[in-house]
Amino acid sequence: MTARWIKVATTNAIDEDDMIAVEIEGRHIAIYHVGGVFHATANVCTHAYALLTDGFLDECTIECPLHAGRFDITTGKALGAPVTQDLKVYALRVEGTDILIALD
Ligand code: FES
Repeated sequence: MTARWIKVATTNAIDEDDMIAVEIEGRHIAIYHVGGVFHATANVCTHAYALLTDGFLDECTIECPLHAGRFDITTGKALGAPVTQDLKVYALRVEGTDILIALD
């Protein structure tokens, strides 16, 4: 299926070293701004139900607020117990001040 690029935010809506939660077509998605670069992942932890944007962002690592599971936001990789399943990562691009992600 061809990816559809959807505008999810503007660059000035997310401070450096911060993140926002968006809901697009029923999907919870987290948009992060780290080191001048934007990233997008699923916002629901793969361990149980918690929104990662309620957690703690440390450079490119997001720590879940519920049981402290951690993921790499650039790859979605689960970084250790209790999380074992990687996080979905969305392709993202910036056009002017618009942040777009690819939905399949
Ligand atoms: Fe995220 Fe358990 S719900 S680590």
